[in-house]
Amino acid sequence: MRIAIASDHAGFIQKAPLAEYLRSQGHEVVDMGPATDDRCDYPDFADKVARAVARGDAERGVLICGTGLGIAMAADKVPGVRAVPIQTVDFARLCREHNDANVIGLSGRFVPLEENEKILDTFLTTAFEGGRHTGRVEKIMREDDPDFQGVPADFGM
Ligand code: RB5
Repeated sequence: MRIAIASDHAGFIQKAPLAEYLRSQGHEVVDMGPATDDRCDYPDFADKVARAVARGDAERGVLICGTGLGIAMAADKVPGVRAVPIQTVDFARLCREHNDANVIGLSGRFVPLEENEKILDTFLTTAFEGGRHTGRVEKIMREDDPDFQGVPADFGM
């Protein structure tokens, strides 16, 4: 699989080891920065990876910041991207099965490298379940529908 990876300064320590791990698993990895652990703004690197995924230049995106939270929030703003912060293997499985997530936000400060490797294994090998989840994911991806109002007004409220 072709994977785009990036971090901020707080996730930098895990970026190269995770990229190397993914290559050892047979993936093609594109490192979108940064080149050093100098202080930087995570939205800048989230945007690079998210746009690569949205364009189809990468099938999945891997982002690492201190918590995985801010960098996933920033990536999720790009149309076509479903980015989630993930700290456990179970959630990695569920974000694929139920939400068809295509970008993952990892914590470089609170989750050990070995755990993030397991999280990535699961994120990259678990298929979207489809079925009842398909329409829900379509509703998430409603950026092109300015009239979307979610639950109909008469839906049991
Ligand atoms: C950087 O200090 C930190 O705020 C960032 O890496 C991330 O955790 C934000 O969500």
